[in-house]
Amino acid sequence: MLAQDEFKRAVARAAMRFVQEGEIIGVGTGSTADCFIDELGRSKLQIAGAVSSSKRSATRLAHHGIQLFDLNDVETLSIYVDGADEIDAEFSMIKGGGGALTREKIVAAVAQTFVCIADASKKVERLGRFPLPVEVVPIARAYVMRELARYGAPRLRAGFATDNGNSIIDVHDLKIDDARALEERIDRIAGVVTNGLFAARGADVLLLGTANGVVVSKKSAVGAMDESSRLER
Ligand code: 5RP
Repeated sequence: MLAQDEFKRAVARAAMRFVQEGEIIGVGTGSTADCFIDELGRSKLQIAGAVSSSKRSATRLAHHGIQLFDLNDVETLSIYVDGADEIDAEFSMIKGGGGALTREKIVAAVAQTFVCIADASKKVERLGRFPLPVEVVPIARAYVMRELARYGAPRLRAGFATDNGNSIIDVHDLKIDDARALEERIDRIAGVVTNGLFAARGADVLLLGTANGVVVSKKSAVGAMDESSRLER
């Protein structure tokens, strides 16, 4: 049985087959995204550069000599590669464990294809066991906490500020029946910048690291379609 870290490295390697020479790509944040950045750095493939979803990933990309682009200077991105905290059969996700959810959602919105790279522990039947991160403008913290208490148990992520200078509230014990509806409802609370539900714009491709290798699934019009192609062990 491969360790979780090896699953992460395996999906990061597998994601390289979606990267085209000469393109600008979107890059996510987290330990799995770090593995992907390291693969980019090792690869002989010459990409034009990357748009980063966080300062953390930007630093790692720069360390590998990969040119960074401001999203405002880029019209489209062929792919966005990122991890997830949870992903369901519809390819809706909870993201933001690392607090980069807002920039992740923005960069993902510009990309044509969202490639989610994750180890098998991230695949869930139902979203919500992982606390939902909500980025909040600091003066709205108390109000938003009261509003979020309708849905679950909100807790302020103490001592944490996002790259945008905001706070994160993690909502525990959520019961998510309709991820897209909840994403919209939480976004409508005044003071909320973004929430970590990625349902309106979920992933298009999932590369899941399992003990049997990397399983590739692509989203079809009727939901997730598992091609069950195994790339590597
Ligand atoms: C960061 C994220 C990450 O994609 C998510 O937390 C998964 O991280 P990891 O790859 O370390 O498990 O959304 O904001």
